[in-house]
Formats: sequence, structure tokens, C-alpha cells
Amino acid sequence: MSAAGVSPGRAAVVAGWGGALPERVVTNHEIAARLDTTDEWIRTRTGIRERRQAAPGQSTVDLAAEAGRAALRGGRADALVLATSTPDQMCPASAPQVAARLGLGTVPAFDVNAVCSGFVYALATASGFISGGIAERVLVIGADVFTSLIDPGDRATVPIFGDGAGALLLRAGAPGEPGALGPFDLHSEGELAELLWVEAGGSRRRVPDDPGERFLVMQGTAVFRQACARMAESSRAVLEEVGWMVGDVDRFVGHQANIRILQATAKHLGLPADAVVANIDRVGNTSAASIPLALSDAAADGTLSAGHRVLLTAFGAGLTWGSTVLTWPELP
Ligand code: COA
Repeated sequence: MSAAGVSPGRAAVVAGWGGALPERVVTNHEIAARLDTTDEWIRTRTGIRERRQAAPGQSTVDLAAEAGRAALRGGRADALVLATSTPDQMCPASAPQVAARLGLGTVPAFDVNAVCSGFVYALATASGFISGGIAERVLVIGADVFTSLIDPGDRATVPIFGDGAGALLLRAGAPGEPGALGPFDLHSEGELAELLWVEAGGSRRRVPDDPGERFLVMQGTAVFRQACARMAESSRAVLEEVGWMVGDVDRFVGHQANIRILQATAKHLGLPADAVVANIDRVGNTSAASIPLALSDAAADGTLSAGHRVLLTAFGAGLTWGSTVLTWPELP
């Protein structure tokens, strides 16, 4: 779907934000003590210094509820969309449990799985609910305990991924007002699914032939190239649709996969380095939580403030990718 426009009457407008991280910090030094890698390799190749890891028994629903509760400081919600690829159970979806935890009653609640692009897909879904008049206020959460998919012995993936959750509360408003989301640019390329996947545990390979098949396998270099190309392409499409020049973008909030991916994409686009919002050094790649956590951190520390024009772009397994824009609103 290319840069579909929003409905003329109603838009989804950001009304609150929140984030949640597990307490446990895993440093590069801790990883280097048990795997064949070094702090220097991880820092220079990925930009990551440390990441958070969920405690045993701490789940996606736990983190999602904490981030969602923070975003609800901005008011109630009458629907909930959870972006995750690590639900608490394979079936059912985790969103209803998050809604119950938050005391939202019997609101519609469901998961969206577009892996690391999940939050942008979930924002688009929620915007559709609002512009279509199905809901007035939608809580959109991105949450993953992605370390549950990582082979603890794999030095290629252990340093990259971490756990966390982030959320935005959306309300019905007018297109063009500060905080209004859209247009959206969303894509997928299923023929390249094997570049980044967990082979077993689904309906095709129900029981792994080999225990490694229940973990994420990543072709890092190919994924790196795809991520840079697709996020740049999608960013350009959404900027063209909204009518912004590259120079109009104050903050570039890309999926926090690798600092070099973020910098290369910004450079392709012609964005200055200081427009790049990055918290990857402290959280690693938190999959669907990545963009809302970066937004929450930037809003909390003042990197992001009212009036900033923000470009959001994500890329993930599937493959999937997508972008949207908003002007950051004045929020209490
Ligand atoms: N420590 C030391 N060496 C490591 C390592 C580690 N933790 N992980 C991999 N290597 C080795 C590999 O075995 C390989 O060795 P070889 O050349 O002898 O086969 C080499 O490093 C790879 O080097 P290079 O290709 O130059 O690394 P890179 O600059 O491509 O960085 C990644 C590797 C994984 C950091 C990078 O490809 C990447 O970030 N890819 C995208 C991953 C991603 O974003 N995934 C999620 C998308 S949503």
C-alpha cells in the first residue's frame, strides 16, 4: 500500500505516551564474558552498550500493561491494539489480557504481528478505527520479550535484541492538527521471510527437528541492506505524500535495529545527524517496542518537543516496513 491518504473528516491524534523496561540490565561486558565477542565489536558494529532483559516469568503482557498504563495518563481508551511477535501464548492474542489488566472492560483488543514494523502497522490500524468511526480513543502498544526467541549461545543475535514496551494513546481529532498521524506507507515482501525468522513452533514445523529451529535465525548483512533501502524508500514516499521536504523533518525516529542502519538511512535521505533520535545504546533492538520507546525516551528527556515534525519509519522480519509522520503535540 503506497502512502494512502487519511480520511478527510477525522484523524488519529496522539494524546499520551509511555514506556516500560525490565529492571535487569545486560551489558556488553556480561555478554563478552560468556560468548566469543567483545564490548568493542558490539559497540562499533551496532551502537549498543546495554539492553534490558525480562525476568523469568515476566512477560509481554506485563510490560505492555505497564507502558499502556503510563500512556493512559492522557485519558481512557475504548479499543486496544497490541503490536507484538512474542505474545504470552501462541493462542490467544495477548491484547485482551492487557486490556483486562488495565481495567478497560470489554473493549475490542487484538494483536498485530508485523515484528519490528509492528508498531507502525498498529498505528495505521488504530488510525483506521478512528477515521472509520469505529473507536474514539485507541491505546496502541508495542511490546516484545524478544529475548525469548534468541538462542543464548548465538553471538550474532544475543548482543542485538532486548525486551521492552512502549505505547501511544490516540484520540479522534482533525487532520492537520498537532499530533495527527498520517499518511501511512506500508509494505511487505514475504519471499524474503527466511532472511529473519524462527522456523519451528508454528503450524508448518510444529516440533523442531533441531532445538535451534525454535530460535531466530538472521542473515545479518542482507537484513542490514534491506533495512537501509526500505526505510529510506518508505520515508521518501510518506514525505512526498504529506508534502514535506527532507529539511522540514526535525526528528527522525527510525526502528532502533543498529545505529549504523539509522545513520545510513538518515544519510540516504539527506537528514542531518542531529535529527536522528536514538536510544539503541541503552535498550538494543526491542522489536515492536522500539519506536514507541524511542518516542517516550525522547519526549521524557526533551529531545522531542511540541511542534517538532517527526518522521517514523520501521523495518522488520516478514519482511515488513512502513512509515508515517506527525507533528509532536503539546501534551500534559
Ligand atoms: N562478535 C564478534 N564477531 C561477530 C559477532 C559478534 N557478536 N557477530 C557476528 N560476528 C562475526 C561474524 O561471524 C562474521 O564473521 P566472518 O566474517 O568470519 O564470517 C562477521 O562478524 C560479520 O562481520 P560483518 O559482516 O562485517 O558484520 P556487520 O558489520 O554486517 O555487522 C551485524 C553484523 C549483525 C551487526 C549487522 O549485519 C546488522 O546489524 N544486521 C542487521 C541486523 C538487524 O537489524 N536485525 C533486525 C532487523 S529488524
